[in-house]
Amino acid sequence: MIGPGSYVCDLLRGAPGTSVTARGWVKTRRDGKNVHFIQLNDGSSPVDLQVVVDEGVVAPEAIARITTGAALSVEGDLVASPGKGQAVELKARALVVLGAANPEEYPLQKKKHNLETLRPLGHLRARTNTFGAVFRVRNVLARAIHKFFQDQGFLYVHTPVISSSDAEGAGSMFQVTALDLEEAAHARKAPDFTQDFFGRRTYLTVSGQLEAEILALAFANVYTFGPTFRAENSNTPRHLAEFYMIEPEMAFCDLKGDQDLAEAFLKSVIGQVMDECRPDLEFLSKWYDSELFQTLETVLAGPFERISYTEAVGLLQKSGRNWEFPAHWGADLQSEHERYLTEELFQKPVIVTDYPREIKAFYMRSNDDGKTVAAMDVLVPRIGEIIGGSQREERHDVLLSRIRDHAGMNEEAYWWYLELRKFGGVEHAGFGMGFERMMMYLTGMKNIRDVIPFPRTPGNAEF
Ligand code: 4AD
Ligand code: MG
Repeated sequence: MIGPGSYVCDLLRGAPGTSVTARGWVKTRRDGKNVHFIQLNDGSSPVDLQVVVDEGVVAPEAIARITTGAALSVEGDLVASPGKGQAVELKARALVVLGAANPEEYPLQKKKHNLETLRPLGHLRARTNTFGAVFRVRNVLARAIHKFFQDQGFLYVHTPVISSSDAEGAGSMFQVTALDLEEAAHARKAPDFTQDFFGRRTYLTVSGQLEAEILALAFANVYTFGPTFRAENSNTPRHLAEFYMIEPEMAFCDLKGDQDLAEAFLKSVIGQVMDECRPDLEFLSKWYDSELFQTLETVLAGPFERISYTEAVGLLQKSGRNWEFPAHWGADLQSEHERYLTEELFQKPVIVTDYPREIKAFYMRSNDDGKTVAAMDVLVPRIGEIIGGSQREERHDVLLSRIRDHAGMNEEAYWWYLELRKFGGVEHAGFGMGFERMMMYLTGMKNIRDVIPFPRTPGNAEF
């Protein structure tokens, strides 16, 4: 096993003269006169370790098996490298090919592959420079998120993946069943879900929010960070059927506090990733988005714009644009509207608040105007909505009437959510950030399928 001190990233920082063993996969092999140069990587670094193999160190049959994709173990000494790009290289004393990769069959060769071609190669694409960079950023982003909340005293809580309630009241859930549906179909019987594993219908959760509210009313400040599922048939570059969501929930907090936290949170995690992943971000900027650093720096630079939905609609109407979906009060903001506000008009993140009640979820707190709710969406250039949140309806009777007004919602299923409002209920608020939306923002990747190792989208569940 490779341990601390022997990853490629550690060896690259090693002192000349040190005797080491390197393990990893071959990026390329180049043959010189009486010498072979191998670029080796174990995924820990955007820079490969150059291995220099003098003629005679390895049998010619073994050299032929050192091809792109093969796994090697190399013993040798670190020496100062005469080449540019690395301080040291590894001069091999002994080399073993642990796993060959037949070059006739191995699909990744030394050239820039386009991202679509790599998608069906989910079992191999993690070895490319691009996905190396993306998945290292993903790791650091996850740690940055935990660090932000832990430093603020938030409790990390786990909410269930299997759920019997629809947290968004939107009906786009994957059903979970242990019943033999084929058998029921053969017998021409409707499946009886009272006989199912949980004695009722259950689903994969669309959000941990409702359970997070329970925990916020015990621990004041909590956050979840887990997988969520949406069975909406949205085949877009921004939607996944399975994605990770971070959901903080705060007691004694209103919509203003919610916005403040969202802004501080985005700035903190972007700052941390920029500090820790600079070489990877430079690589991604070079190949995929030359304006990446500029975009990220605008988030850190100043306060976000904060406007109400009503103001946003006014600005869209005044814009003189020929919208595909004309903006009018009562209609949800479309992606073209969100992008106009954040990319063109304000050129920075924009928080839009107080949306019409009819287009938002049942749990959002009704405003005194009787028309809007205390909702917020954070919009950022290139992505549009990256965060959705709200102050929650803490008044039992108002919440009950919203559930009753909401077609398709089963009041009984929400008994505990209603009861929370009776026992020590207090104003509270929270939001959800899509982890992969944030990844797109940080990496400059244009398609959400390229920021998660194994994307789940309509028609696609390979790997
Ligand atoms: O706006 P959404 O649906 O809000 C909620 O689920 C709330 N319960 C959150 C809360 O208040 N605790 O989703 C939140 C965020 C979106 O802003 C977006 O970033 C991301 O989750 N998201 C998706 N990301 C990828 N694929 C999808 N299909 C997504 N749907 C939402
Ligand atoms: Mg939303």
